[in-house]
Amino acid sequence: MEKMRCCWPLVFLLLIQKVSLQDIQAYVGETITLPCLNSDKALQGEITVFWRFRDTSTVYDIINSRASFDEQEASFRNRVEGFPAEWTKGNFSIRLKNVTTADGGTYTCFIPNISAQTKVQLTVKDRPVPPTDSNSRNSDVRRRPDHILLFFAFLLGCSLLCA
Ligand SMILES: *[C@@H]1O[C@H](CO)[C@@H](O)[C@H](O)[C@H]1NC(C)=O
Ligand SMILES: *[C@@H]1O[C@H](CO)[C@@H](O)[C@H](O)[C@H]1NC(C)=O
Ligand SMILES: *[C@@H]1O[C@H](CO)[C@@H](O)[C@H](O)[C@H]1NC(C)=O
Repeated sequence: MEKMRCCWPLVFLLLIQKVSLQDIQAYVGETITLPCLNSDKALQGEITVFWRFRDTSTVYDIINSRASFDEQEASFRNRVEGFPAEWTKGNFSIRLKNVTTADGGTYTCFIPNISAQTKVQLTVKDRPVPPTDSNSRNSDVRRRPDHILLFFAFLLGCSLLCA
């Protein structure tokens, strides 16, 4: 227990990392979910949410509780799907199909009513092996390697601090 005490600053750092950095990795051709959750009580009535890519291009808009594709960037056409049934639960996540390396970058989910924004960093890599049926579908979020790295950084930090 005594030994654990010197690790607290590191635990804190790890927690900060977890909330502020959403990192998603995918291979070309996969379908991914970009998460955006908000349970703010001030969100009542009609909801408006803007999804942006690299701060400028429009990925997906929810305007007055309706999906709007008017401003959508051509490169995202027919590739983005929202989940209207989830909106009342504060879940404004979207699904992006058939990702390409050009999709890599920062996505922002902005909720003007409460000035809230969530950022997601997407990295798209070429497949190391030709796609097979089992790994081509439902790829989704691959966080594990990051967490393992963080865990080792944590252990290393602990052993340095406590030595
Ligand atoms: C957001 O603000 C608009 C007017 O500014 C209001 O009509 C709407 O109900 C608000 N929506 C939420 C979810 O708070
Ligand atoms: C949000 O909605 C998406 C699409 O239905 C779902 O995959 C995801 O699990 C939901 N997230 C939460 C936290 O409910
Ligand atoms: C995925 O994108 C590539 C490149 O834009 C395209 O050639 C291919 O047809 C797309 N596949 C599907 C299933 O939409």
